Amino acid sequence: MAGRLSWCGTGTKSINVFLKPLTASWGVQRSAGGNAAASVSSGSLRTDTDLPRVTLPKVLYRLFIQGYYNRVHEMQLYEKQLYGGMFTIKGDGRYAVVLNSGKLLEELMRQDDKFPSRGDKLWSEYRDMRDLGYGPASEEGEKWYKLRSVLNKRMLHPKDSVKYENVVNEVVTDFIKRIYHLRKMSSTGDLVPNVSNELYRFSLEGISRIVLETRIGCLENEIPAETQNFINSIAQMFTYTMAVAMLPKWTRNYLPFWGRYISGWDGIFKFACKLIDRKLEDIQKHLDAGQEVKGEYLSYLLANTNMSKKDVYGSVAELLLAGVDTTSNTMMWALYLLSHDPKAQETLYQEVNSIVKGDKIPTAEDLNRMPYLKAVIKETLRIYPVVPINARLLSENDVIIGGHFFPKKTTFLMHHYAMSHDEKIFPEPHIFKPERWLRDGRERPSPFGSIPFGFGVRGCVGKRIAELEMHLALARVIKLFEVKLDPSVGKINALSRTVLVADKTVNFHFLERKHNHLNLI
Ligand code: HEM
Repeated sequence: MAGRLSWCGTGTKSINVFLKPLTASWGVQRSAGGNAAASVSSGSLRTDTDLPRVTLPKVLYRLFIQGYYNRVHEMQLYEKQLYGGMFTIKGDGRYAVVLNSGKLLEELMRQDDKFPSRGDKLWSEYRDMRDLGYGPASEEGEKWYKLRSVLNKRMLHPKDSVKYENVVNEVVTDFIKRIYHLRKMSSTGDLVPNVSNELYRFSLEGISRIVLETRIGCLENEIPAETQNFINSIAQMFTYTMAVAMLPKWTRNYLPFWGRYISGWDGIFKFACKLIDRKLEDIQKHLDAGQEVKGEYLSYLLANTNMSKKDVYGSVAELLLAGVDTTSNTMMWALYLLSHDPKAQETLYQEVNSIVKGDKIPTAEDLNRMPYLKAVIKETLRIYPVVPINARLLSENDVIIGGHFFPKKTTFLMHHYAMSHDEKIFPEPHIFKPERWLRDGRERPSPFGSIPFGFGVRGCVGKRIAELEMHLALARVIKLFEVKLDPSVGKINALSRTVLVADKTVNFHFLERKHNHLNLI
């Protein structure tokens, strides 16, 4: 099993353990309930014993014998057919309740703790070992709450994210230049190979520009060695996360995974800390000269909050890690869906073209007049919820969900892929229909049918930034090019490697539209 598990992450940069499909799903909590002082009378209510139960061996059988280990999103559909909206996973002293329905999810979210938790500890271990600060994903309780109130500012409010319009556009411009460069290098003159990789470079550059206030050269033809080491370290950390999460601690002295995992983290922090320190020196120079400190996010954290340097290190590292694969894969899926639906792509082009005249570069303000563009991203995240599973460990109170009583300290696993493919909420759930999301008088889907950024105070801190990046980049790409999948690629299936990624290399033709607005780059 160990071999398989370590494989799950191999070759991907995309295991964000705080979103933890497998660590959460199968490393589920110890049995809940035993000593829990019930604050809700369980009386005549139904309990978990009235629910379908899946044993841990059965889960493992499905994962490793039936081969769902990298298609856990498909397993969600299969299990929903078998067990309906709610079932439990039990075995080996572990226990979790799985929710497959938006209605039940809403009930759960409405009863979430004051300081919600996903119940994951893996990222904290490294931080404790190296005496580093925790970030928003790894911190818990009141400390987490205080940290989020600092981090949310300048990031989560729509008005704040708009301030990043220029820096995002600067990165989008370089991304477009890179598309032109790659097209030119191709034999057909319009092919861009391995678009997932290009979008990864775009997203990492974008989030570094915002969070570290530094361009790190991901979009240059030759990536600088330091940046390449950083990218390799991220990949290394994610690659060994699964093995480290699943294997008993005693194996760490005998197997190489733990050491490699730690050295991945070391590389990530080395790079981030260096850039943060450099910024700090810069700020100090300004302060010493009695000058105003200008900057976006990092300057705000360093100069205007009471955060210690140690905590800034911890938070910045987590923001960088959480903001790359999520955004880049969503962009990739959006282009894939649009390339399969020329009518939708044309509608999007017409919308962008009607708002962004001539060679103007789209602004955040323009985006407010592009409902179809926003609907395209929403629908993409419904069909490919890039984080297909999430968790909550409810510690404060007992809860009643779907008429069933659960004592506090129960872990709930939210199967977002199954929920956002529920045909009662989304008729023809496998069909790309951005118009579902338009506010044009039609009945809109239940808000809990698809919540790709999570929900409530623990929801994604980067939501607004991610949307800004994706909207600005997609608008610019579609304004300049008609995007067509290279026929040799064929059908692309999703693999779940914590985030949903393509199962093969994706190559697109970027066919320049008739009016070539050179200034758009
Ligand atoms: C398409 C893009 C993205 C998607 C779909 C996404 C999705 C999510 C989800 C589902 C969660 C868990 C929320 C919950 O438990 O309720 C989350 C948490 C988080 N996301 Fe994102 N995310 C995206 C982009 C970003 C970006 C760009 C950043 C960084 C700026 C970011 C930073 C974080 C952090 C730090 C957390 C942990 C928050 C906490 O625990 O308090 N994400 N994200």
